[in-house]
Amino acid sequence: MRRSTRYQCEDRRVIGDWAMASGWTIEPLTSPDEIDEILAVERSSFANPWTREMYLAELDHPGMSFLYVARDPHRRVIGFCSFWRVLDEFHINNLAVDPARRRLGVARALLTRVLRDGVQMGARRATLEVRRSNDAARQLYAHFGFSVAGVRRNYYTSPVEDALVLWCERIGNAI
Ligand SMILES: CC(C)(COP(=O)(O)OP(=O)(O)OC[C@H]1O[C@@H](n2cnc3c(N)ncnc32)[C@H](O)[C@@H]1OP(=O)(O)O)[C@@H](O)C(=O)NCCC(=O)NCCS
Repeated sequence: MRRSTRYQCEDRRVIGDWAMASGWTIEPLTSPDEIDEILAVERSSFANPWTREMYLAELDHPGMSFLYVARDPHRRVIGFCSFWRVLDEFHINNLAVDPARRRLGVARALLTRVLRDGVQMGARRATLEVRRSNDAARQLYAHFGFSVAGVRRNYYTSPVEDALVLWCERIGNAI
């Protein structure tokens, strides 16, 4: 109950023509009750998925940790992005889209919304890590002006792989 109240959010804005045309929406998480749907997308998207406890822990830091969800017209979760705001930086932790809804612009719309809100929150730059072999994500982030700033060798497991550290230095120019 305490959590439901804490995460109530009035923000019902959709993201421009894309969402209005499709009836899909992007909103901050309204209730931890939706974690199950987020976990379903998470598990179908990552070799080492975050657990329920990890997501619930994220929600314990309002103002710093955020979770935005994309929903279809039936309010089913079709994608999400979790991120932190640290001073003037955004740290994108997870971004995933239901495999059945990929290549429809959901991730692009999520990232646009996240970065747009980031600018309003005072963020100027954004960073994330991505598997070297993840061409889909790398191309997505390249659209938003992210470029490789470093490498963490063998950072990922199952399978072991380098992480590329990407930065977008001016998120105001990316959206
Ligand atoms: C990466 C991911 C989030 C993209 O989601 P999506 O909703 O399908 O992406 P979009 O439809 O918004 O695509 C935006 C752009 O990303 C790139 N892209 C997305 N999927 C791609 C693919 N399979 N191959 C190549 N480029 C791809 C393209 O440049 C695309 O633009 P275009 O459609 O005009 O060519 C999705 O594939 C996913 O959930 N993957 C598993 C989880 C993951 O890797 N997350 C990123 C961790 S850092």
